[in-house]
Amino acid sequence: EEKPVIMINFKTYNESYGFRAHDIAEAAETVAEESGIEIVICPGFMDIHPMSNHYRLPVFAQHIDGISPGAHTGHILAEAVRAAGATGTLINHSERRLTLADISAAVDAAKRANLKTVVCTNNTATSGAAAALSPDYVAIEPPELIGSGISVATADPEIIENSVNAVKSVNKDVKVLAGAGISSGSCVKRAVELGSDGVLLASGVVKAEDPAVVLRDLVSKI
Ligand code: G3P
Repeated sequence: EEKPVIMINFKTYNESYGFRAHDIAEAAETVAEESGIEIVICPGFMDIHPMSNHYRLPVFAQHIDGISPGAHTGHILAEAVRAAGATGTLINHSERRLTLADISAAVDAAKRANLKTVVCTNNTATSGAAAALSPDYVAIEPPELIGSGISVATADPEIIENSVNAVKSVNKDVKVLAGAGISSGSCVKRAVELGSDGVLLASGVVKAEDPAVVLRDLVSKI
């Protein structure tokens, strides 16, 4: 049994780019190393290279486009994200939704560039559909709970269990993350008891006065 993973999505908060991204990454690196729990950070594109250069944490992008190298002005190329030091990417986050065809193309682009894939979903049916693309992870996040401070693990435990079942019935090798309103070690513990392989969270850490305090609590019951 692998230990659960904690992924921190920096989003585009004022607290999470530039020098403030360093404060969060610094705290995450300290807590990852003292706990032995894997903490993945997902900073904005401009911060991928500084983060991968300065910290020993896995860095994932928040999005990539399903394009190949060539003439695609303004798009995000998987190979360029990999070259900047990312080793994975979120795809289809609720705040960066794609069509099914675009999700499939983005997963293919990521695999081609040797990036791990986390396909985000909003309900059980889309979790099952995402699993058919064989990403490394499906991350179930009920949109109404994102950024609410109300934990999916207590407010909607069935969506985690049902998504785990939907994903595993399509492809048992795909891991499942749960997200939305996760902010404590109890949420993480509950999410894992419900069958998930870890959590994806943002505001609980990014907007915390002291991210290290929250991160220590997050890993405390694993
Ligand atoms: O990707 C994580 C996210 O959408 C959940 O956000 O702020 O509820 O942890 P938050």
